[in-house]
Amino acid sequence: MAMARFIHVFFLILVLHVLESALANKFSSFSHADECSLLFQFKESMSINKSASFDSRAYPKVASWNLNTSDGARSCCLWDGVECRFGHVIGLDLSSSFLYGPIDSNNSLFNLIHLRTLNLADNNFDFSQIPSGIGQLSQLANLNLSFSFFSGEVPIQISQLRNLVSLDLSRNGLKMQSCDFQNLVQNSSETLRELSLSEVNIDSDLPASIGNLTHLNTLDLGFCGFTGTLPASVCNLTQLTFLDLSGNELLIPIPHLASLSKLKYLKLNGSIFDRNNSCDWLGKFPNLFYLDLSYANLNCEILSSIGNQTQLRELYLSGIGMIGQIPSSFMNLTHLTALDLSDNKITGSLPSLESFSNLTYLSLSGNNFDRWKLPDWFGKLNKITYLDLEDVNLYGEIPSSFFNLTQVEELYLSWNQLKGELSPVASWVNLRALDLSQNMLHGSIPVPPPTTEYFFVSNNKLNGEIPPSICDLLSLLLLDLSFNNITGSIPPCLKKSIEYFFVSNNRLNGEIPPSICDMLSLRLLDLSFNNITGSIPPCLKKLSNSLVVLNLRRNTFQGTIPNIFTNESQYQMIDLSENKLQGQVPRSLENCESLKILDLGYNLIEDMFPFWLGSLSKLQILILRFNKFHGTITIPSKMTFNFPNLHIIDLSYNAFCGDLPHQYFQEWSAMKEPRANELLGSYRFSIQMTNKGVKMEYVNIIKFFSAVDFSSNMFRGKIPKSIKTLGGLQLLNLSNNAIDGVIPPSMGNLIRLEALDISGNKLSGMIPQELVQLNFLAFLNVSNNNLTGPIPQGKQFNTFSNDSYMGNALCGFPLSMKCGGSKASKPPKVSFEEDTESDFPNGIDWVVILIGAVTGLVIGLVYGDYLSTKYYKWFSQRSRR
Ligand SMILES: *[C@@H]1O[C@H](CO)[C@@H](O)[C@H](O)[C@H]1NC(C)=O
Ligand SMILES: *[C@@H]1O[C@H](CO)[C@@H](O)[C@H](O)[C@H]1NC(C)=O
Ligand SMILES: *[C@@H]1O[C@H](CO)[C@@H](O)[C@H](O)[C@H]1NC(C)=O
Ligand SMILES: *[C@@H]1O[C@H](CO)[C@@H](O)[C@H](O)[C@H]1NC(C)=O
Ligand SMILES: *[C@@H]1O[C@H](CO)[C@@H](O)[C@H](O)[C@H]1NC(C)=O
Ligand SMILES: *[C@@H]1O[C@H](CO)[C@@H](O)[C@H](O)[C@H]1NC(C)=O
Ligand SMILES: *[C@@H]1O[C@H](CO)[C@@H](O)[C@H](O)[C@H]1NC(C)=O
Ligand SMILES: *[C@@H]1O[C@H](CO)[C@@H](O)[C@H](O)[C@H]1NC(C)=O
Ligand SMILES: *[C@@H]1O[C@H](CO)[C@@H](O)[C@H](O)[C@H]1NC(C)=O
Ligand SMILES: *[C@@H]1O[C@H](CO)[C@@H](O)[C@H](O)[C@H]1NC(C)=O
Repeated sequence: MAMARFIHVFFLILVLHVLESALANKFSSFSHADECSLLFQFKESMSINKSASFDSRAYPKVASWNLNTSDGARSCCLWDGVECRFGHVIGLDLSSSFLYGPIDSNNSLFNLIHLRTLNLADNNFDFSQIPSGIGQLSQLANLNLSFSFFSGEVPIQISQLRNLVSLDLSRNGLKMQSCDFQNLVQNSSETLRELSLSEVNIDSDLPASIGNLTHLNTLDLGFCGFTGTLPASVCNLTQLTFLDLSGNELLIPIPHLASLSKLKYLKLNGSIFDRNNSCDWLGKFPNLFYLDLSYANLNCEILSSIGNQTQLRELYLSGIGMIGQIPSSFMNLTHLTALDLSDNKITGSLPSLESFSNLTYLSLSGNNFDRWKLPDWFGKLNKITYLDLEDVNLYGEIPSSFFNLTQVEELYLSWNQLKGELSPVASWVNLRALDLSQNMLHGSIPVPPPTTEYFFVSNNKLNGEIPPSICDLLSLLLLDLSFNNITGSIPPCLKKSIEYFFVSNNRLNGEIPPSICDMLSLRLLDLSFNNITGSIPPCLKKLSNSLVVLNLRRNTFQGTIPNIFTNESQYQMIDLSENKLQGQVPRSLENCESLKILDLGYNLIEDMFPFWLGSLSKLQILILRFNKFHGTITIPSKMTFNFPNLHIIDLSYNAFCGDLPHQYFQEWSAMKEPRANELLGSYRFSIQMTNKGVKMEYVNIIKFFSAVDFSSNMFRGKIPKSIKTLGGLQLLNLSNNAIDGVIPPSMGNLIRLEALDISGNKLSGMIPQELVQLNFLAFLNVSNNNLTGPIPQGKQFNTFSNDSYMGNALCGFPLSMKCGGSKASKPPKVSFEEDTESDFPNGIDWVVILIGAVTGLVIGLVYGDYLSTKYYKWFSQRSRR
């Protein structure tokens, strides 16, 4: 029986084949040969680039294409990725084929007019436009250009195709005119079954005509910039099994979804729902197996309603403001393989999920559970690959059953109060990412298994030396040991794969091992706040084109700063402050064109002002505080750029002399008005300003902070009028110099000033009334000058105390000396020495602090700059779905 059936089928195929050849020969053998040569011309027009795909199964399909085989012209039907029917090329699947570069609109490809299927997904067309020539392929039914680095506008010709059955332009970052979208819908309403336009920016209301696409089974309109209300016509799309409207700001009236009973896959993250509706509708999709409502504005008790949907396999409910305990009906969802309840306000205790035995993905992070210990039942979830228990109020030790999770690849336990020693972590043999940071773990550093790529264990109480076995981690990309109590020196055997290495705030000593210079992938090196000695190794030059951040702050480095900065250098931040470095500023720093922050403060550097750094057009923060810089500050005429992007400069506690650098005041355009800093992605840092008891902290990305500190030098001459051009300044400190003349009234133009210190100079005359305009001034110090006359009154001037004015011949509030000739009992006494001493270090004193904390330390662009646990998690979640 089976055999008979087989023969029958075989016979049918044979007949078809013969028929096909006959027809082909009869009608179109000539044009067929043409088609093969058109294909071959297409091949010749494209480049192959092995870095143009992310799919491990990708290979260059066109590489094997060849016209000159014995098979002659017919051969192209046998080529990889080519499909023929009746002698014509009707299908071309070149997805994941390493194609690279733009396709011209008159490419021979578009003469293959019989094409019904064209799939170019997952190649790299290098941000070129989609070629309009596609419009010539009028028979096209299936077009897939997803994830292929096309950019710009979707050509109008695509919306004019009339036979489309499936169209996928997703994940490129394209734009589409809303009228073209409407045309597309109109022209293909009879045929279209799959429409995937995620990340095509259409930026309009979702038109009601979408309801005409009644044959649709897949509608993917995620992140299209649709606004307004989901049209009622959507209820006619009854064939839908897949609906993705995520990332739009669409208001979704629930009844419009009610008739979509075939839905299996529903993604509405970020959507807005009617207020005060119940969540009952969520129980009414009998086929739903995937539901993502993360960050949607739901306003309903979702957890109790959803307990009905026992067929669900994946459920993502992150950040929807869930409050209260997990209801018992929720425990019905035992078939779940993925569950995300993170970033809500769930309280009470977590019920046992022991019966959810197929879970592979579980995230509960960021909730308000009652304090709990890791229960033993976790050890039974032995299919788990992703487990996120960050910041869920865990305490106590990790039970041995937990080390049973041998499938786990990503494990996040940070921001809890876990304690104890963690020797068996190596039993999580499949680990790729492990985050134990921000707990109370003690003992020696636990060493994860050799597969591990990301290992965070900062902010614990680990001690002992870095174990040599850490060097067995072959694939390590990120190692964060900062904020512990680790001793000994940096092992000389760290793997070359490491890109991010943080050991700040420990008790390391010894020298930097030269082997660090062989870690050619190193992008971020943070050894700050240790006691590392020796000189900065000159071989770091080898890392010049990989290192983005070099932080050696507060150690005991000696000697000169070597010339390690080549013109391929990628540095964005260099912090060598608080060491014992000597000599001059290395001229090669001039090469660091990407540099945003340079901190050489608190060293023993002896040099003139490095005016040549002015050519670094991205430099935003320059700190030379507390060194032995000297000489006058002038701009040589040959300089074209003079710190055009500088927001913060601190030259305090040096021996600069001569006039204040008024030429620079004209050039520092970034200080002229509030301009946003573009610091290192989200590299978290803070600036502290302290003055008498008030500590202001500008944490994280301080968007608009601008400051000049020239205090405690030997500047002389007058305050130049041009200072008024620095209208973006929040902090100005010129104290303890030998500046004379009057306070220019135009300083009243520095309207954003929060702190002004000009104490300890030789300023004379009156305090100009114009300073009353400084509405944000929280701190003022003009003490120890030779100022006379009445103190301006009103506004902020009503808030300063005597200390602001000591050591002058001023009168009026707040001083007891009255103005207007009446003799006061106590003449103001000059007490220069006493006051400066008590002012230091309490006088305005600001430092840039780079916090080496793990989470949030380094967030970045998708394929770019920095990684943090948070970012890494986001990325891995995104690629998973
Ligand atoms: C290969 O592709 C990458 C991007 O994936 C690009 O940066 C590189 O320039 C391409 N190489 C050539 C030779 O075109
Ligand atoms: C498509 O839908 C719109 C609005 O829903 C309607 O006015 C129009 O007649 C429909 N067009 C076709 C071709 O069905
Ligand atoms: C749904 O389609 C029917 C006919 O196919 C039409 O009469 C009705 O107006 C449509 N509903 C909406 C809300 O567009
Ligand atoms: C739960 O399911 C039953 C039948 O499957 C249905 O009648 C009921 O309305 C559902 N409850 C909710 C809250 O959706
Ligand atoms: C879900 O759980 C509730 C309460 O635990 C129970 O009464 C109900 O029968 C369950 N429903 C289903 C469909 O399993
Ligand atoms: C887990 O998956 C297996 C295989 O798909 C299935 O047979 C089993 O019923 C599932 N268990 C639960 C609790 O859903
Ligand atoms: C450890 O996992 C095995 C199966 O992999 C399971 O049988 C055992 O109960 C688990 N132990 C604990 C303590 O959960
Ligand atoms: C660090 O370790 C030393 C012993 O090596 C111990 O005396 C000290 O208290 C520890 N510090 C902290 C903060 O745990
Ligand atoms: C730093 O190391 C030096 C010797 O290398 C030692 O004298 C000094 O006490 C250490 N400082 C601290 C704070 O541990
Ligand atoms: C203070 O100013 C007066 C004139 O206003 C001047 O005569 C005197 O020398 C100045 N004193 C100092 C110490 O500069």
